[in-house]
Amino acid sequence: MLQPPAPFVMNPAEPKNWPLGRWNLYVGGAGRSVPGYVNIDLFAMPGVDVAADVERLPFPSDLFQRIECDAVLEHVRNPRQAMCELRRVLAPGGYLHLVTPFCHPFHAYPADFRRFTIDGLKELAGGLEVVAEGWRTGPTATILVFLLEYVKLLLPFRIWRAAAHFVCGWLLFPLRYLDLLLLRSATAHRIGNHCYLWLRKPLPGEQPAEP
Ligand SMILES: C[S@@+](CC[C@H](N)C(=O)[O-])C[C@H]1O[C@@H](n2cnc3c(N)ncnc32)[C@H](O)[C@@H]1O
Repeated sequence: MLQPPAPFVMNPAEPKNWPLGRWNLYVGGAGRSVPGYVNIDLFAMPGVDVAADVERLPFPSDLFQRIECDAVLEHVRNPRQAMCELRRVLAPGGYLHLVTPFCHPFHAYPADFRRFTIDGLKELAGGLEVVAEGWRTGPTATILVFLLEYVKLLLPFRIWRAAAHFVCGWLLFPLRYLDLLLLRSATAHRIGNHCYLWLRKPLPGEQPAEP
């Protein structure tokens, strides 16, 4: 109850209702329960069904109807190899959801290698068709997460940092709703927080999308 609300709101315009199938894959869900998905992570933690590296997936090709890869690509050594594997195991006609940070503080799970723009994510899409793109969390989220990190940087003791997180978190969180306006702006991408792509694997015989 004392934990302040998150300093971001999700973009309500992001489409989410792409169909699930018999087999669906959730990448990087350590500590999470994700009903309806096979949950893989590097670490065999609670909630994880298969401990595996997304760069070498232990699944046959064309299996999963839907794949969620949310806040993982910044942590993998070789995102092109990870995308090759995700493309391989995605069923024809299936959907792959990518979410990655653009302006976001360093966070190691277990390492933190890079940030992405929407154009950068599209470069990794290969022959998959882009069916939706945009910003999941916006400029205000960026400002608030950096401000909270900055204030904590100034404080030498853990207890002070926890107190600052509590006080600043509760004081600042109402500002997060500004993103409901700013996410409609064509320039939100300049300091957006996390971006997303929804990608679809063409059916056999369908014209593949331009890379
Ligand atoms: C920032 S967390 C994402 C959490 C989750 N997707 C969510 O939205 O709450 C990143 C997760 O990806 C996992 N991870 C990092 N590198 C990975 C890899 N090469 N293969 C599979 N999982 C990986 C980490 O262990 C961590 O659980």
